[in-house]
Amino acid sequence: MQTPQTLNERIRHFYDRSTGIWLDTWGEHMHHGYYGPDGTTRKDHLQAQIDLITEFLKWGKVERAAQMLDAGCGVGGSARFLANALNANVLGLTLSPVQAEQAARFNQQAGLEGQVRVEVQDVLQLKPAQGPFDLIWSLESAEHIPEKQRLLQVFFDALRPGGVLLMATWCHRNTPPALRTGEQHTLQKIGKYYHLPPMISIGEYEQMAHAAGFTSIQTADWTDAIAPFWPAVIRSALRWRSIAGLLRSGGPTLRGAWAMQFMIQGYRSGALRFGLLQARKP
Ligand SMILES: C[S@@+](CC[C@H](N)C(=O)[O-])C[C@H]1O[C@@H](n2cnc3c(N)ncnc32)[C@H](O)[C@@H]1O
Repeated sequence: MQTPQTLNERIRHFYDRSTGIWLDTWGEHMHHGYYGPDGTTRKDHLQAQIDLITEFLKWGKVERAAQMLDAGCGVGGSARFLANALNANVLGLTLSPVQAEQAARFNQQAGLEGQVRVEVQDVLQLKPAQGPFDLIWSLESAEHIPEKQRLLQVFFDALRPGGVLLMATWCHRNTPPALRTGEQHTLQKIGKYYHLPPMISIGEYEQMAHAAGFTSIQTADWTDAIAPFWPAVIRSALRWRSIAGLLRSGGPTLRGAWAMQFMIQGYRSGALRFGLLQARKP
């Protein structure tokens, strides 16, 4: 295979190569877990990932959605959960064909193939005919997208009036004060290994949501609630079976594993934040 060149090619390559090992060690949810508001509740890590979905929904006060978009859906873990929880028809988008194929298998196993559809498509290329949606769910994927203002506009345009956007994403802390050199260094490492363009703060997402036309905008910082997650991922990566899997899946996955230390460093220093945004199309 040719060396991936563009950002989207690198993201696709990263998830095509690393999804198998993530499924082996963690399962269908490719996002942080929720360990209580201050991160001190001890629980099974899979349960913590499911709790993140339910707490996020509760925070967004969403109880039903006939049509929803899971923007950056991985193998559809949230999509299937929300299809059941909200009785929704879900369109999921990912850049990774490996994830889309796996999602189709999982959808069939769950008997949800008529309700959840996962396609390989850049979310920025969303067409009006694919919507409109009552809910757009974007869980840990917006950090991959370089044009954040355009992304918020695409989401706004794809929602039905009254529709809701729920976004959880990796951010840098609010500024001022300006990011220090050490903080910038850590964030650059995270960006390099996980194929992320420069991050922004949740305050900047909020301003962009206003500019896109959204109302009822609220933000939150759940960094404390998710803090135990990465130490748990590191412990799981150090199991022998996972090390063998890491070596088999090669370059991008190994670099991703190496970068876990920068996630922990980022959260400890306060430079990296887990930001939430909810917003409504009037
Ligand atoms: C960390 S995974 C999160 C997956 C899923 N939301 C979950 O929580 O299990 C990031 C996902 O974003 C997707 N992604 C990144 N950039 C994208 C883009 N421009 N369009 C569509 N999907 C994108 C990747 O393909 C991947 O599936």
